[in-house]
Amino acid sequence: MKLHIVKNKKELAEKAYEVLLDVINSKDEVSLGLATGSSPEGIYEIFRREKPDVSHVTTVNLDEYVGLSADHDQSYAYFMNEHLFKHLKFKATHLPNGLSTDHAAECARYDEVLAANTPDLQLLGIGTNGHIAFNEPGASFELTTNVAELAPATVEANSRYFETPADVPTHAFSMGIKSIMQAKKILLIASGAGKAQAIKGMIEGPVTHELPASVLQTHVDVTVIVDAEAASLLRNDSMH
Ligand code: F6R
Repeated sequence: MKLHIVKNKKELAEKAYEVLLDVINSKDEVSLGLATGSSPEGIYEIFRREKPDVSHVTTVNLDEYVGLSADHDQSYAYFMNEHLFKHLKFKATHLPNGLSTDHAAECARYDEVLAANTPDLQLLGIGTNGHIAFNEPGASFELTTNVAELAPATVEANSRYFETPADVPTHAFSMGIKSIMQAKKILLIASGAGKAQAIKGMIEGPVTHELPASVLQTHVDVTVIVDAEAASLLRNDSMH
């Protein structure tokens, strides 16, 4: 893993944008795997400002809540439209369809989308429990797109965005770890002290299902960009 430690969220977004832009400008047809959540917000802000040419770029997102429509203001489709897709003209954009009722068929459809658009780069955030996409602790490393049950800690973390606890989705369509590992390059970003333990485990700990992000140690091309707080528990020798 290549590790970059930056001062703060602003520098993190700038550095990550550079990595993304290099991939975008590297060839005529590009597939980008994207993430939602607070971590990539600063990166998408730079996209909105810089407006790079993305007419040759197809995007595939990691996940979507089961039961939320694309126009629900907490759906990931809505998030992506607001932050990115309505501001730049991508060649095509893909997310799982949160409203599909035949879950197996939707997972199979998304696997086909991924097979046709293997990400040149997959952008990832990380959960405080070490999840990537919605692959929660204990998740198999062999899964492709699946319906994941959110861990109680994840439901709790998400509840701030919903009016009542009953509104908080408990399941999501999610790329599996096997799908994520197929990306040619992976860029994981994290900021804040809340992520420090997960970052330490991901980089220094054993590869274990208990910390799904640790599987990234076995991928050939992973770049990790963290701010000083998220790096605060790393041993000195991990930082070089
Ligand atoms: C989002 C996703 C999640 C988040 C993770 C971190 O598409 O798949 O795994 O990346 O929960 O979320 P934030 O960035 O909000 O801390």
